[in-house]
Amino acid sequence: MKEQIQKYLPGDHPWRNHIHWFRELDSTNTYLKELAKQGAPQGTIILADSQTGGRGRLGRSFHSPAGAGIYMSLLLRPACSPEALMHLTCVSATAVRDAVLHATGIPLDIKWTNDLVYGQRKLAGILTELGLSPRGTVDYAIIGVGLNCCQAADDFPPDIRDIAVSLAGITGKAPDRARIVAAMAESFYRMSQALPEDQPRLLDDYRRHCVTLGKPISLLRGEEVRHGTALDIDSTGALIVEFAPGQTEAVNSGEVSVRGMYGYV
Ligand code: BTN
Repeated sequence: MKEQIQKYLPGDHPWRNHIHWFRELDSTNTYLKELAKQGAPQGTIILADSQTGGRGRLGRSFHSPAGAGIYMSLLLRPACSPEALMHLTCVSATAVRDAVLHATGIPLDIKWTNDLVYGQRKLAGILTELGLSPRGTVDYAIIGVGLNCCQAADDFPPDIRDIAVSLAGITGKAPDRARIVAAMAESFYRMSQALPEDQPRLLDDYRRHCVTLGKPISLLRGEEVRHGTALDIDSTGALIVEFAPGQTEAVNSGEVSVRGMYGYV
């Protein structure tokens, strides 16, 4: 797999020799976190054919059966404060969108914060995790991507069967996973060059593809449900929601899930 990915990358790609592929890991994010603490370089990419403890946002698990998806984590070491990286999850979604479009021709939408969707269904999710230095600056940022590739509808666990889709489910054939991973290495490399200075442009790209904007939504925080309309994304990647005429709040992705008023998106 590693050689196939390298085949699609330019010979002088700076991350070419930082790719590691495993048959099975607990979680690629967890594994990469250990490497990051031991000094692994920016651009280290960990891939697993399956994960036994794949993790999602808000403490959820991420179903990661063998041969069915791309389970990938990327290490960045931006020299900045954590506050300057608040938009990282958003712009990572744009990088995954660009890569899937480039490798497959499929134009995905983004559901705030970081779900890649096709129509009304989720194709990929992203889990970003930061590690701080003793001085409070960013030591490492890990971007974990889980992308459904080959699953048939029945392969998804019952609780997500109605909202999940794979690339094979869209096109009718198994995608070339190596090509998509290589495209992600390219698009994340471009993104890393633009972080954090190019924040306005990166967020504009994000807004263009974010289908949550302009829609009535439900915000779920534990047992609490609030309804509003999604108006905009601010410079930190927070969602600006109007809960009543003239009453807006910036909602942070750390604690809430969003649902469209009439379904998942
Ligand atoms: C979500 O949709 O809530 C985010 C899912 C992120 C899953 C990926 S798979 C690769 C990486 N390793 C993990 O344990 N999680 C991320």
